[in-house]
Amino acid sequence: MLKAINVTKRFGELKAVNDLSFEVQQGQVFGIAGPNGAGKSTVFNLITGVYKYEGNIEFNGRDITGMPPYRIAKAGIARTFQIPQTFPSLNVQKSISVGSRFGASGGLDLAYVDEVIRFVELEQERSKNTGLLTLLGKKKLMIGASLATKPKILMLDEPMAGCNATEIKSLMELIAKINQELGITIIIIEHFMKVLTELTEILLIIESGRKICQDEPAKVTNDPKVIECYLGDPNAERA
Ligand SMILES: Nc1ncnc2c1ncn2[C@@H]1O[C@H](COP(=O)(O)OP(=O)(O)OP(=O)(O)O)[C@@H](O)[C@H]1O
Ligand SMILES: [Mg+2]
Repeated sequence: MLKAINVTKRFGELKAVNDLSFEVQQGQVFGIAGPNGAGKSTVFNLITGVYKYEGNIEFNGRDITGMPPYRIAKAGIARTFQIPQTFPSLNVQKSISVGSRFGASGGLDLAYVDEVIRFVELEQERSKNTGLLTLLGKKKLMIGASLATKPKILMLDEPMAGCNATEIKSLMELIAKINQELGITIIIIEHFMKVLTELTEILLIIESGRKICQDEPAKVTNDPKVIECYLGDPNAERA
């Protein structure tokens, strides 16, 4: 469904992504992990057309290399950001409506906005200013605004960052539900290994922009190369 072929992104001398190839199948929950600065968020920025790069990216058999972000969004690729981005002066209903105007949704669809608000369990907060939401509320809102674009692929950049165990559980359930009930393919970047092993079918580990390995999570976590470059890192969250 999504295929990266020998993709390289240079920032001056630095190769943030270095000759990276991988393929995500339709319906999968596909995980990306690796140490800080490995190039994970940059991969999302390349897929969504934020930066130009070397190599190619295909989506549903179509070359999307060099396409502007709005066209890539329209094709059905949505993403959330590592740091929650909300419109602090808008309420929940209006913020999710903004999502509904963009992407593959075909324009504002208020009935679908209501469905999304229920799906992400923000009915109680629908008239609340987004700036007043809890961290979990903001995360659900960001996911809701992405869902309102009616994506085929949803890309989540560290959705659990800063969350406690209860919040993580709630987000994991939501992500699984998006995949299973809505049939949306998911690519998730996460530092919490437990989240990745429970949620994903395939896990890609990158370091310094390069692929270290790609396999089922149980195999990846036992791979000596991964243990050396990533899991041995005291900053890696395995709780
Ligand atoms: N716009 C940019 N200009 C210059 N360098 C950048 C830019 N964006 C990212 N980089 C560099 O590219 C490398 C990869 O960054 P990236 O944000 O993709 O890492 P990451 O794997 O998402 O890390 P983290 O786990 O900390 O979020 C880093 O060395 C970073 O400093
Ligand atoms: Mg990042």
